[in-house]
Amino acid sequence: MNYLLKKPVCFFLVAMLFCSSLLAQPPRLSPADSIARRRSADSVRQLTEQDYKKMLDLLHISSIRQGANGNDPKAPNAANYDEAKANPFPDLPDPLVLKNGKKVTTAKMWWNQRRPEIVEDFDREIYGRVPKNLPSVKWEVVSTVNETNGAIPVITKKLVGHVDNSSYPQITVDIQLTVITPANATGPVPVIMEFGFIFPPGFRMPAPSATSSQKPAEPGWQQQLLAKGWGYAIIVPGSIQADNGAGLTQGIIGLMNKGQTRKADDWGSLRAWAWGASKALDYFETDKAVDAKKVGIEGHSRYGKATVVTMAYDPRFAIAFISSSGEGGVKLHRRNAGELVENVASSGEYHWMAGNFIKYAGPLTWGDMPVDAHELVAMCAPRPVFISAGEKGDGWVDAKGMFLGGVHAGPVYKLLGKKDLGTVDFPPVETTLTDGEIAFRQHTAGHTPVPNWPTFIRFAERYFK
Ligand code: GCU
Repeated sequence: MNYLLKKPVCFFLVAMLFCSSLLAQPPRLSPADSIARRRSADSVRQLTEQDYKKMLDLLHISSIRQGANGNDPKAPNAANYDEAKANPFPDLPDPLVLKNGKKVTTAKMWWNQRRPEIVEDFDREIYGRVPKNLPSVKWEVVSTVNETNGAIPVITKKLVGHVDNSSYPQITVDIQLTVITPANATGPVPVIMEFGFIFPPGFRMPAPSATSSQKPAEPGWQQQLLAKGWGYAIIVPGSIQADNGAGLTQGIIGLMNKGQTRKADDWGSLRAWAWGASKALDYFETDKAVDAKKVGIEGHSRYGKATVVTMAYDPRFAIAFISSSGEGGVKLHRRNAGELVENVASSGEYHWMAGNFIKYAGPLTWGDMPVDAHELVAMCAPRPVFISAGEKGDGWVDAKGMFLGGVHAGPVYKLLGKKDLGTVDFPPVETTLTDGEIAFRQHTAGHTPVPNWPTFIRFAERYFK
């Protein structure tokens, strides 16, 4: 039921959009593949609902408030896009006031006192705790190929990160990572790692149509990075943790829980994906082709959420490109615009978060949250973050709410001697705000990072010189 509340911008469509140049027609599945896919989707849905119900029971919640409907503007619960109604809880927690009421006035107080308080709240209530004694990961290079990408000679390495599962051998976790670096590099290069979209089993990419092959291909983000002399990497989130509630007893979360269901403050998929990204960074520290001090992280939509979580929790990441992260990402939870806490707390999305997050969709309210998204951005300080949004068709992610997530992290960046966004006024579309360490740009296209790549690369250049 809760699935129906989700925005039409579904995962699968977004993934297809990414390959739009290749996709001239819908994916073709054999009839047998279609049936198998429908069956497995049904069983995932069923298992998800069971896991969700268990979590509600654990929290002593019988039901939550209804989320916003992003599909039908006439629905009684239609998503709000009216700024006059967007701020029912205007008071945000102050990132620079300790729980005991004392003002944070020095960097030392931030690092030693206030930041740990904020981390604890995010751990317990929002994204869940990463277990202690996480297993080691052994990276195996499965292939190294010299090839060209665009016109640029590159070395493509495919890796598998074997997670030590000796504590519970019933669950195997093999993290998939691909790293592409320019073959002619004279030393270690900066690398931007993307949380990559994956396609369901049975999905076959149709051959490009005549018209699409006639169009000269524009350089993709990968070629833009290579042209700078940088590399890129793709990590496959689904190889770390499934993107549904049914998978919570599997993957790295299931491995740590020995196949049992989560506790209310256990980690969700976002932190699991972020953990996988950190393990990839461990690998980069051993790869001579990569400058591990200049590794950035990028992701879109749900992976935009994973991107900011990665950046917030692992101080080794140098920069982040957070694309259309919306609710559960850098959009303020207290905003009534586009997607709401209630949507993310529903059975289709709760697995991204800690179970405790569901409480804020009933009986508690958004205003009861001990933290808000600006403090997640503040956790990234003093490192540079680029907050990206689209315009037409990207209302669901609430560009203004994400901008405000950046604005209200500003005082922390300033305390640490860095520059904030430089304005508190939501700028017109296509205004580039990249003078400080918190950057923002809303492009005119839809739910995609693509038009903002050149701006992000120029922003990153400042730090990767
Ligand atoms: C849905 C969901 C968003 C998410 C998006 C995606 O629209 O509501 O929170 O970001 O899917 O990842 O595609």
